[in-house]
Amino acid sequence: MALTIGVPRETLAGEKRVATVPEVVEKLIKLGFKVAVESGAGDAANCSDDSYRAAGAEIIAGAPALWAASDIVFKIGVPTSAEVGLMREGGTLIDFIWPAQNPELMQQLAAKKATVLAIDSLPRTLSRAQKMDALTSQAGVAGYRAVIEAANAFGRFFNGQITAAGKVPPAKVFIAGAGVAGLAAIGTAASLGAIVRANDTRAEVADQVVSLGGEFVKVDYEEEGSGGGGYAKVMSEGFQQAQREMYAKQAREVDIIITTALIPGKPAPRLITAEMVQSMKPGSVIVDMAAERGGNCELTEAGKTVVKHGVTIVGYTDLASRLAKQSSTLYATNLFRLAEELCKTKDGIVDVNMEDEAIRGLTVIKEGNITWPPPPPKPSAAPPAAKPAAVAPQAKKGHGHGAASEPMAGNKLAIMFGVAAALFWFVGANAPAAFLAHFTVFVLACFVGYMVVWNVTPALHTPLMSVTNAISSIIAIGALVQIAPPLAGGLPPDQWIRWLAVGGIALTAVNMFGGFAVTQRMLDMFRK
Ligand code: NAI
Repeated sequence: MALTIGVPRETLAGEKRVATVPEVVEKLIKLGFKVAVESGAGDAANCSDDSYRAAGAEIIAGAPALWAASDIVFKIGVPTSAEVGLMREGGTLIDFIWPAQNPELMQQLAAKKATVLAIDSLPRTLSRAQKMDALTSQAGVAGYRAVIEAANAFGRFFNGQITAAGKVPPAKVFIAGAGVAGLAAIGTAASLGAIVRANDTRAEVADQVVSLGGEFVKVDYEEEGSGGGGYAKVMSEGFQQAQREMYAKQAREVDIIITTALIPGKPAPRLITAEMVQSMKPGSVIVDMAAERGGNCELTEAGKTVVKHGVTIVGYTDLASRLAKQSSTLYATNLFRLAEELCKTKDGIVDVNMEDEAIRGLTVIKEGNITWPPPPPKPSAAPPAAKPAAVAPQAKKGHGHGAASEPMAGNKLAIMFGVAAALFWFVGANAPAAFLAHFTVFVLACFVGYMVVWNVTPALHTPLMSVTNAISSIIAIGALVQIAPPLAGGLPPDQWIRWLAVGGIALTAVNMFGGFAVTQRMLDMFRK
């Protein structure tokens, strides 16, 4: 029987987001689920009860009735113990949980025999998981909103202007930490016309900063900042000292600082000291996106906007919720993509498949058993040596004639080779000589192409496609032949053909040189 997905009204003070929106309700119903929404759940995100009803959801008044009617609950805020109390025994919850920070909540949910998918525990580096990555979707919204909050508190334009009333210099924005939120902030501030600079301890983000219109400012100290899984680590004292010097210089120069630096499982690194705030120009703005985790700035007050030393310091912890419709829509889509993964049969029944790496990472409690933390992720490209070991037990399973399967495979190969050899002999004996020359080149090209492509790791397939596209510009040779002067005794080429060939060469040259340049840029991103 089709399961019911329930969406309660969020209970955290000031939370405006909702876990699903009417457009997504329709899609969930197409997947075979029934959807129930608590009356008023979407009000603060501009989604009325009527709009949910029109999309096919049932509206239920009051949290107790909603939780009681739901087989699966979609939520966005970490559940309170009162909410866990309302949950059905053996029910499923999909929500932000932060299991490391909330051990008591985990015990309460386990006692309910619940199955819990913690959206914050998704293995984010799996490319297949990106569509479900709510941390990324919410951080993107928050990064955008941080710039809007900064613009609101700042007394000037972001872009430079020359008007009859005078010349306005562009605002200078410095972004500390270029993760998902930081990159969104760089893109937004640059699109408003500001001069944007950014710094991160992970050197690999420098290209991303530049591609979004920012300038990457390096700390004058050699130390790699990656702590694994795309996240940062705590840096050495020497690095921190050099970083403070660079940040102090930036603080004196820029008008706006947006800080986003976080280290998993640790308090936010202190990057902006009281003296740096004091050194900023009056009217400057700091938006501290790390306020909830202790703040990147010494003077931040979480949840508030304060003015200290003439600098406005914004410490809001609900930036994504301040764009409630947008963040709810993206979150709803993340959960819909997850629902698709859980219900491949499209019949409204979920299968929490623990063999699937993404689902395994998300599932922190399965039918009352705590399954968090998950085993360490498998390396993305399995070493070839692992293959024989995986095959061996299967051979044993085969009803006692496992040992015979190897000669079987050998026989098959021999038959295939025999058929191929016969075909080649047939073609060789019957085809005209001119065809044979082309055919030999074709077969060799296939062989070389196969060997080249087969040995490229999957991560490099995009640059491979780009370079093969550039190589395909070999057709330029055809055009060159057309404009070449005729060989002795040959007819001169028609002028039209000549000009068309010139055009062809110009276009293929763009493809060729552009293709190689783009490939080089891509490959540079893989080089550390
Ligand atoms: P986050 O919110 O944990 O940290 C924000 C940023 O602060 C990070 O870029 C970090 O390097 C930086 N930071 C930490 N300490 C710092 C310090 N002392 N000074 C300056 N910067 C500091 O990270 P977020 O935004 O959640 O994701 C970080 C990274 O995770 C992404 O940039 C990406 O590389 C990776 N990721 C990968 C995905 C994928 O492969 N599909 C999806 C999402 C994230």
